[in-house]
Amino acid sequence: MILVTGANGNLGSAALAALRARGVPAMGGSRTPGEGMRRLDFDDRVGLDLAGVSTLVLVSAGYAEDDQVVARHTAVLDAAVRDGVGHVVYTSLTTAGDHLGFALAHRATERLVRASGLPWTVLRNGLYAELFGGLLMWAGHGVESAFGDGALAAVAREDLAEVAAVVASDPARHRGRVYDLVGTPITAEQVANELGVAHRTISLGEYRRRLLQETPGLLPFQPPMLASIATAVRHGCLDGTAPDLTDLLGRAARDPLTTAAAAASAARPAARV
Ligand SMILES: NC(=O)c1ccc[n+]([C@@H]2O[C@H](COP(=O)([O-])OP(=O)(O)OC[C@H]3O[C@@H](n4cnc5c(N)ncnc54)[C@H](OP(=O)(O)O)[C@@H]3O)[C@@H](O)[C@H]2O)c1
Repeated sequence: MILVTGANGNLGSAALAALRARGVPAMGGSRTPGEGMRRLDFDDRVGLDLAGVSTLVLVSAGYAEDDQVVARHTAVLDAAVRDGVGHVVYTSLTTAGDHLGFALAHRATERLVRASGLPWTVLRNGLYAELFGGLLMWAGHGVESAFGDGALAAVAREDLAEVAAVVASDPARHRGRVYDLVGTPITAEQVANELGVAHRTISLGEYRRRLLQETPGLLPFQPPMLASIATAVRHGCLDGTAPDLTDLLGRAARDPLTTAAAAASAARPAARV
């Protein structure tokens, strides 16, 4: 049986849907399991049960400090070894993202995956087009960002979910492979054009100030993490392309510009009311 973790999250739920659309039986694991799901909370080490799982799609459980994320992934990989899981597919971070604020937890987890002794595949996911669009800040009738003229090889999350389903459906074929799943480079200006509005570049200092002083609800690790994405895009470190995404999809990727524009549009203040 294939088990997809983070099944109530965006990527996990889409991967499950993609598996089912291919006619491949799969189960979800979640901290808050719905019907037909297994309870799976990586923070509850003792309660982890992966018995009967042939292929584990381990969706990274980020949104925390590195030590907590790595401890979560260690716990689930230990359980995978103990319970005899046959193959681990880990959703990691694109190779070009090595210098991003949250790369360390991914690379440390990749090492754990390799050291587990289990057959594995690493999906180095590019940054979501949804994330790129969602990070544009609405100001009056236009958008602002610290991305400058830099481009991001953004990927629609649905495409990454589909690749996870392709790999999990036939894991032996992808054993020991690291795939770099990046999309087509897009700029903030192009997203703004798609929306029919203007884009204004702000400095990294101003962006960091806004994150620290004007963005309530951010966790302490998040301002440096978001600033690292902005500087990496701005300075052209995340615009490289690779063939793995379309090779695995067997078709063209979804248009990241449309996806990013939809995410930006949904975040527009007037759209929220
Ligand atoms: N490539 C990118 O641009 C990008 C952007 C943002 C995040 N990410 C990474 O990719 C992952 C998936 O993205 P997403 O869009 O699906 O994020 P998401 O919608 O926020 O889902 C993340 C899921 O992680 C699971 N999770 C969190 N803590 C957990 C724990 N203690 N034990 C088990 N599961 C836990 C949760 O699943 P349940 O609610 O079902 O328990 C949560 O819904 C994120 O967790 C993050 O590491 C990548």
